[in-house]
Parts: sequence; C-alpha cells; structure tokens
Amino acid sequence: MTRFAGVVALVSAVIVAAGCWLLAPSRAEAASPPPFKLTAAVLSQPPVQVVAEAPKGSLHNPYNGNPKIAKEGHKLFFDYGCSGCHGGGGGGGMCPPLINGVWIYGGSDDTLFRLISLGSDKLHKAGYHRQALESVIAPMPQMGLLIHHASDVFKIITWLRSAYQGPPGHKYH
Ligand code: HEC
Repeated sequence: MTRFAGVVALVSAVIVAAGCWLLAPSRAEAASPPPFKLTAAVLSQPPVQVVAEAPKGSLHNPYNGNPKIAKEGHKLFFDYGCSGCHGGGGGGGMCPPLINGVWIYGGSDDTLFRLISLGSDKLHKAGYHRQALESVIAPMPQMGLLIHHASDVFKIITWLRSAYQGPPGHKYH
C-alpha cells in the first residue's frame, strides 16, 4: 500500500513537472523585445511602414527643440498641403488648430506621428479614441500616403512644438 502510494506520488510529480514545463513561456517569449530604435535607415522609411513596425508609445521625436529643423518642418507643412486645412501658422482654418494645447487624441510624439501617418479612420481602428473636441469634428485624411520619409513627419512635429501657444503643461500630452 505504501509502495503503491509512493508510485502514485511519483507519477503525479512527473505529471505536474511536465505540465509546468509545457506551460512555462519559452525563453524567447519571456525576454522583453529590444527597444525600437530610430536609426537613420528607419527615419528614411515611409511613415506608414514605421507605424506598422514600431510598438505603441515607442516613437520619440529626435529633433524636438532644434530651430533649424523646425524651419524645415514649417516648409514641409506647406509642401504636403497641411496648411490648406490647418492654416499656414497651424492656428486652424477649415480644420482644427494644432498649436492651442487641445490634443484630440493626446499630444505625445508617438500619437501625433500615428495620426498624421494613418489619418483618423485608421487611427480609430488601431484603438485610439477622441479624448477632446475641437471646434471642427471631421476625419483627417491619411497624409502618410503622400509623405516620403518618417523624418519629414518628425520635422513637421518639431515645427508644431516650436509654434505651440497653449498652456505649457499641455505641450506634449
Ligand atoms: C483635408 C484637411 C486636412 C489636411 C490636408 C491635413 N489635416 Fe490634420 N486634421 C484634419 C482634421 C479634420 C483633423 C481632426 C481629426 C479628428 O478629429 O479625428 C486633423 C487633426 C490633426 C492633428 C491633431 C490636432 C489636435 O488638436 O490634436 C494634427 C497634429 C494634424 N492634423 C496635423 C496635420 C499635418 C502635419 C498635416 C500635413 C501632413 C495635416 N494635418 C493635413 C484635417 C486635415
């Protein structure tokens, strides 16, 4: 009887151990992914590709605070036709203002990069929702289809940051 109990215990121990081994995450899964790096190669990719590959929250503008880049960004804002909807100074026109401290989906570099690249409809499909309302409520087109390089989007964001006129605490969120 004791012997039988011993065998049962041993068999259950083996079963439990096998279960744990099967359930344990593999080493590859357990290790956290390497941080997403904005290398020169990534910055020259189309913005839509960067959005597809970069994990949410991982995009940080490498140029913020650089006045020379802000100037280039302002030129790109006209070249890509953003000014037609948002006004030449970003203060709004037919479409919402971009420099007033009200961010429809949030004001982080990551969120603005995704909105500009994907447009409103695809941003909604990616799980983002309007958090604030501006004077105009309309969808933004997918400008990322026209923009050649991810760096151009970051340059425009650099200009938007430099033109910002809202409350200081809301500049980035
Ligand atoms: C056809 C008009 C149109 C064009 C062109 C356009 N946008 Fe927009 N944009 C909109 C609309 C409409 C919204 C509001 C979107 C929403 O509520 O979902 C918006 C929202 C935004 C926002 C968020 C504003 C906030 O308060 O949070 C940013 C930033 C932005 N646009 C940047 C740009 C940039 C940069 C370009 C050029 C590459 C551009 N837009 C081109 C119509 C346009």
